[in-house]
Amino acid sequence: MGGLTYIDFLAKFGVGGAHPGGIGLTKSILAQEHITKDSMILDAGCGTGQTAAYLFNQYQAKIFCLEINPIMIEKAKNRFEKLQFPIQLFQGSVEEIPFDRNTFDFIICESVLAFVNKPKALSEFYRVLKTGGRFLANEMTINSKLNKQAEQEIIGFYNIDSLLLENDWIRLLEDTGFKQIKINELQSDLKDGNVAQEFNFSQNFEPELFSILNEHGNMLIKYHDILSHRIFTCSK
Ligand SMILES: C[S@@+](CC[C@H](N)C(=O)[O-])C[C@H]1O[C@@H](n2cnc3c(N)ncnc32)[C@H](O)[C@@H]1O
Repeated sequence: MGGLTYIDFLAKFGVGGAHPGGIGLTKSILAQEHITKDSMILDAGCGTGQTAAYLFNQYQAKIFCLEINPIMIEKAKNRFEKLQFPIQLFQGSVEEIPFDRNTFDFIICESVLAFVNKPKALSEFYRVLKTGGRFLANEMTINSKLNKQAEQEIIGFYNIDSLLLENDWIRLLEDTGFKQIKINELQSDLKDGNVAQEFNFSQNFEPELFSILNEHGNMLIKYHDILSHRIFTCSK
């Protein structure tokens, strides 16, 4: 793969809604929350900013985005400028969030925790969330334990440190201090893909990125019984 990662593929192809269920599922999750124009919302690891733009358009709330990848940042910035949406975009890591404690009413984190140091990022989310604030996450989850070889194949492909079962996520959220932890019943099957997929291609991209796309598709089919996701919602 020449050192290129799955995230490089997402960034160069400008995949919007790069999480299970896409923007459709995002809208359903958000509709279950009490969001108003006064809500302070962080889209953590916003990618190209599709969810953040929806949040502003739908609720006129105060939207902040944090993203580490410069290509993603550029594409999110272009999106917000084109739409003339006053969304604040910050380059940085969810492992060290550049905001004060008790800042946000909502944090939405769509397929980001899988790629980072999970306890570190979760404790940062907890810190910057207001008491009573809501944390909403849509994250890769395995349905059952995998053998070592399969685990290594998936971990290696995504360049991540671990694969978590539903209970592992719940324990991590509890250990961080979150309350009212719930698994939302909304679900989507990863191998069905995302019908409303949005792309915003970079001018130049490495041909190897097509192999990553291909390999990703094959992996979702191969592990479709095991590789899944869950939507976790909880409060501080
Ligand atoms: C699977 S994509 C999801 C993007 C977006 N949330 C969406 O649903 O379209 C994961 C995103 O997390 C970002 N990311 C990875 N590590 C990060 C970190 N330490 N801090 C902030 N963002 C990070 C990646 O650059 C990428 O945009």
